[in-house]
Amino acid sequence: MASTIRRRNNICYIPKHDKVIGELIQKRGAIYSSRLDSHVYFRTITRGAAIGLSPYNDYYKKAKAISKHPLIDEITKEMLLDMIHTSTSLSNPEPLYPRSYLHRATLNIILEVTFGIRTNSINDPLFKRLDKWVEDFTLIFSSEDRRSEYFPIVKYFPNNKTMQKAKAIRDDIDTIFGELLEDVKSGKNQSPCTEREVYEQGELEDYQIAHLLASLVFAGTDTVASSITWLLAFLANNPSFQEPAHNELDTLIPKHDRLPTYSDFKNLPYTHALIREGQRVYPPTWLGVHHYNEQDDEYNGYHIPANSLVFINSHAISFNEQRYKNAKEFDPYRFINYEQSMASLANGPAEKRDHFVFGAGRRLCTGVYLAEAELFVILARILYCFKVEKNASPTGEDGKPIPMNLDKPIIGLTICQKIIMLNLFLEMIESCNF
Ligand code: HEM
Repeated sequence: MASTIRRRNNICYIPKHDKVIGELIQKRGAIYSSRLDSHVYFRTITRGAAIGLSPYNDYYKKAKAISKHPLIDEITKEMLLDMIHTSTSLSNPEPLYPRSYLHRATLNIILEVTFGIRTNSINDPLFKRLDKWVEDFTLIFSSEDRRSEYFPIVKYFPNNKTMQKAKAIRDDIDTIFGELLEDVKSGKNQSPCTEREVYEQGELEDYQIAHLLASLVFAGTDTVASSITWLLAFLANNPSFQEPAHNELDTLIPKHDRLPTYSDFKNLPYTHALIREGQRVYPPTWLGVHHYNEQDDEYNGYHIPANSLVFINSHAISFNEQRYKNAKEFDPYRFINYEQSMASLANGPAEKRDHFVFGAGRRLCTGVYLAEAELFVILARILYCFKVEKNASPTGEDGKPIPMNLDKPIIGLTICQKIIMLNLFLEMIESCNF
C-alpha cells in the first residue's frame, strides 16, 4: 500500500499506488485534506497566511476562493522577444541563461493576476528581489532544513540556522509584499487585481493579504519555470526528441502567421505529450506537499492514526512498470492519444490520471489550469522559435561541452536542474515569424 516512516509524533504514509490515492486522498477528502500546522514553514515564514501550507480551516476556504484569469499570451510573447533579442544581439553573442527568462515570464503572469504589475527585464530591481526570494523560499525546504520540522525541539536551539533563514524569508515577504499592498492603498497602483479586491472586501488583515498573495506568487513561479528548464535540459542531451514538435509546429503555425496559443493544443499533440512526459519523468516536485489527517482512519486493515503526514509519492507512481510500459524510458508517444487535458484528468478518477504531479483531492494544485496553459504556450513558443543545440551547455576546462547531468538535481520544495547554473545555447529558427 505505502511506505511508512515513524517521526517524533507523526507517522508519514507515502502511498505509491493510484488506487490508494483515489481511495484515501480523493474519496476520503474530508479526512485527508489538512496540512501540519508547521512552526517553521507555516507559522514563522508565512505568519499563518499561506494557502498551500494552511491547515484545512475557514481561513483556507476563504483563501482558496481567490483566483483570476491571467495574461499568458502577452507575457510569453514578451519573454520570447527578450530571448530572441539576447540570443541574436551582435553585441551580446552569449548563450542564453534560460532560467531567468522563464522565471520572469511565470513571475509576471502571476504578478499581473495578483498585483496588476509586472517586471520590465531580468535586470529590473523588483525582479531581482523576487527571484532571490523565490529561490531562498524553495531552498529552505531542503532535507537539511526540514530537520527542524521533523524534530521540533531543534527550533529552540539558539542560533538555529533554519529559524534564522525562515525569519529572513518572512521579513522579505513583509517588506516586498507589504510595499506592494501600500501601493494599492495609497492609489499609486490603480490596476484591477486580486490584491485590490481582497483589500476592498476587508475580511483579511494586511499581513494576511501580503502573505497569502506571496504564497500564490511563490507557488506559481518556480514550478512552471523548473518544468520547462528540465525539458530544455533533457532536449539538450537528446535533441532528436524536439524534431516531431518542430515538424508539427512548422506545419500548423505558418498557415496562421502567428505564434502558437493554448487553443492549438489539440493540433499539437506531440508538444502536449512532450509536456506530459516531462512532468512524469522530470517533474518540478517529487513528493509535492504533504496531506495531514486530523482524525484516526482504517484502510485495508491498516490503522492510520490521527496527525499523520500523508505524502503522494508521484515519483514512485511515475516509474511504476504496471502503470507505464518501459517506465524508465522517456517516451512522449505514450501520451500521444490523450485528448483530455492534464487539469481535467487531475480532477477525475485516480486510475485514469496521466500522472500525479499536481497532487490530488481537495488540495489538488489550485493553479493546475493556469500551469498547464503556461507550460504548453511557453514550450510551444520556444520550440517554434528555437532549436535546442546538442550538449547546449558551455565548454569545460577540457574544451568539451559540460554535459547536463539530469541525475544530480538541487532539491528544495521544487527539484531544480543544475542547468540553472549553466547557460543554454538556443539556435534561432530562421522561419520564426510573428
Ligand atoms: C508545473 C506546475 C505546477 C506543479 C507541478 C504544481 C504542483 C503542486 C502540488 C503537488 C501541490 C500540492 C497538491 C496536494 O497537496 O495534493 C500544489 C499546490 C498548489 N499549487 Fe501548484 N503546481 C504547479 C503550478 C502552480 C501554479 C502556476 C499556481 C498558480 C497560482 C499554483 C498554485 C498552487 C496553490 C495555491 C497550491 C495550494 C493548494 C492547496 O493547498 O489547497 N501551482 N501544486
